[in-house]
Amino acid sequence: MSDNSITDSATTSLISPNISSNQFTSTTPLKLGILASGNGSNFEAIAQAIEIGQLNAQIQVLIYNNPDAKAAIRAANRGVEAVLLNHRDYKNREKFDGQLVQSLQQYDVEWVILAGWMRLLTPVLIDAFPERIINIHPSLLPSFKGIHAVEQALAAGVKITGCTVHLVCLEVDSGPIIMQAAVPILADDTADTLHARIQLEEHRILPQAIALAAQRR
Ligand code: GRF
Repeated sequence: MSDNSITDSATTSLISPNISSNQFTSTTPLKLGILASGNGSNFEAIAQAIEIGQLNAQIQVLIYNNPDAKAAIRAANRGVEAVLLNHRDYKNREKFDGQLVQSLQQYDVEWVILAGWMRLLTPVLIDAFPERIINIHPSLLPSFKGIHAVEQALAAGVKITGCTVHLVCLEVDSGPIIMQAAVPILADDTADTLHARIQLEEHRILPQAIALAAQRR
């Protein structure tokens, strides 16, 4: 092995670590509540990691806010309880978050996972689960916050982007970083092709980051 290859593999493991399951096994299963607005592939990745014994957790409930969210179908297929809370039915964000808190508590949730949750959070939710809300974002934060992170990375001409799992605080796409994975941008990438490769990394690191965050507490 050349010196270069040692450096390369060390660098890769720092940027995109892969933690083996026995590095974060907890004795009691983590009780997760997952919030999703759309496709739910990250919900699926968490469910899969639990199924294969990589993550010691159980999904207490999936809460979704769009009636046609595919995440709800995924939950039904896996026998996970799914609850629709449509934000359009609430007078303001605080009232909506109040109902979210009530539902999450009703399902005895300890950790809240935002897996493609396209709503701004208020202190009502954040204060109910202090340092126990985790978000996945498709960029290497603090670069490219907000909803068009993949497009922003392409427009900026950066050569590497990726995804970030972090603890949630009031400021959007901020809060202590738990894990990141890097994804190179290819010359012919479109937002769709790049997002697809970023999602592969999201699915890999999100379950690992959940376990890591729980272990650190
Ligand atoms: C992901 O790219 C995530 O980073 C972002 O929203 C997307 C959700 O994808 N916050 P999915 O619904 O889990 O497939």
